[in-house]
Amino acid sequence: MEQLLKRAQECAQALEKQDEVLIVSHVDADGLASAAIIGCALERIEKGYEIKIVKKLDPSVFHEVSSAEAVIFTDLGSGSLDLMDDLGPLCVIADHHQPAGSSDTALHLNPHLFGFNGATDLSGAGATYLIARALGQNAQLSDLAVVGAVGDLQHVREGRLCGVNRLILDEAEKHSIVAVEKDLQAFGKQTRPIHKLLEYSSNPYIPGFTGNSEQILGFLTSLNVKLQEEGKWKKWIDLSSVERRTIVSALIQRCLAQGMPPEITQSLIGEVYTLLKEERGTALRDASEYSTLLNATARYGFEKIGVAVCMGDRESSYRKANELLLMHRENLVRGLNYVKQTGVTTLSNLQYFHAGDNILETIVGIIAGMCKNLDGVNRHLPIIGLANCDEGVKASARGTATLVKRRLNLARAMSDAANTVGGVGGGHDIAAGATIPEGTEIEFLKQLDQLVGLQLS
Ligand code: C5P
Ligand code: C5P
Ligand code: ZN
Repeated sequence: MEQLLKRAQECAQALEKQDEVLIVSHVDADGLASAAIIGCALERIEKGYEIKIVKKLDPSVFHEVSSAEAVIFTDLGSGSLDLMDDLGPLCVIADHHQPAGSSDTALHLNPHLFGFNGATDLSGAGATYLIARALGQNAQLSDLAVVGAVGDLQHVREGRLCGVNRLILDEAEKHSIVAVEKDLQAFGKQTRPIHKLLEYSSNPYIPGFTGNSEQILGFLTSLNVKLQEEGKWKKWIDLSSVERRTIVSALIQRCLAQGMPPEITQSLIGEVYTLLKEERGTALRDASEYSTLLNATARYGFEKIGVAVCMGDRESSYRKANELLLMHRENLVRGLNYVKQTGVTTLSNLQYFHAGDNILETIVGIIAGMCKNLDGVNRHLPIIGLANCDEGVKASARGTATLVKRRLNLARAMSDAANTVGGVGGGHDIAAGATIPEGTEIEFLKQLDQLVGLQLS
């Protein structure tokens, strides 16, 4: 940890010497939060900055970047170390993806270099926050670091943020910026009526409840919980702690009685992060809902809107982001239904679905992660979602904590399998992606199946 914080200091010192910094970040919730964190921190010390959000680092991005005075890559960069030395400008990298290649000149901050796991211990936004706090009194930005980590699902494996994330969280709690509480993990506690909260629960998928509001209403009514107030549906945050506990324990009993494995049932409960600077009852108040709102902008080409929200816009950008959020949710439901209807194909060591043009390549990874718990999907095998994209075919892979314990490393497997068919890939042990040429899907999946088999053997 000490060495990691020292590296953050070195990165900050290098940035302090610049007048203008180009921020290049990744197009997802963690990436947008990262860009906003370093943007705000540079603004506070009166440095000029420009933000560029990209899908990945390709030659065209490097070309554009080469004329800058200094660049900070956030939530990406670690996979392209070989290309940094010839770039020209000073390069700082604040990332958490598995590093590939090497660089003699880039200042590289990445948890993997200091004995931590980038999938769970620190996000891109967290790494960036460590630099921001070395640039000045920036504890106010710690909530965005939590949003980034939760956006990358870093809290899922243990039901709580751990590793370096914990240091950030402690700082956020100490400054009354984030409150930490054990609660139901369902999505929408700030914004959805209680029965809708359970109806849309996909992680975990609650058999009999997910997608079935009548069953849920019957269940809640039987518990004597008042669901409405003055004719309006109450939300989870409107319930007393006693009411919440009543629902949670009845829910757990019901899931266990129905044969849900205890480890999955247990995942109904976990740490929940409330952003205390944000207005109660809005998506921004909850780290998980906030990150989904950011994804709803980034994944549809509206990343500037998401960055503006992170940087404090609660007017036009915030309104637009909420509109995008509605559409994003519809797309997720539609995508999930698509997989439910078409099913998955199982090979020896993995299962996959190819959505073609039916699911956007920018959300196929989210869907692959969500459908882990669908009927017909094997919880014990990695799942790969494929969708068409401009460059060919996008593949998104998602594993489980148990498989990672058995040495699954999807980043390596996806990267190696993609390389054999002329594509590229990378990411984390538990979640990774790749882009491959059209028509190579079968060969790619065959290679991936073998590689995953070798990792697990
Ligand atoms: O590119 P980046 O690192 O920001 O994205 C990480 C991805 O890994 C996210 O899409 C996140 O949903 C996924 N992930 C996951 N399960 C985990 C950890 C991460 O699906 N337990
Ligand atoms: O796109 P998806 O959500 O499936 O990405 C999962 C993880 O794999 C993310 O961390 C992403 O940055 C990474 N990835 C990568 N190289 C690719 C595609 C995705 O490193 N070509
Ligand atoms: Zn990330």
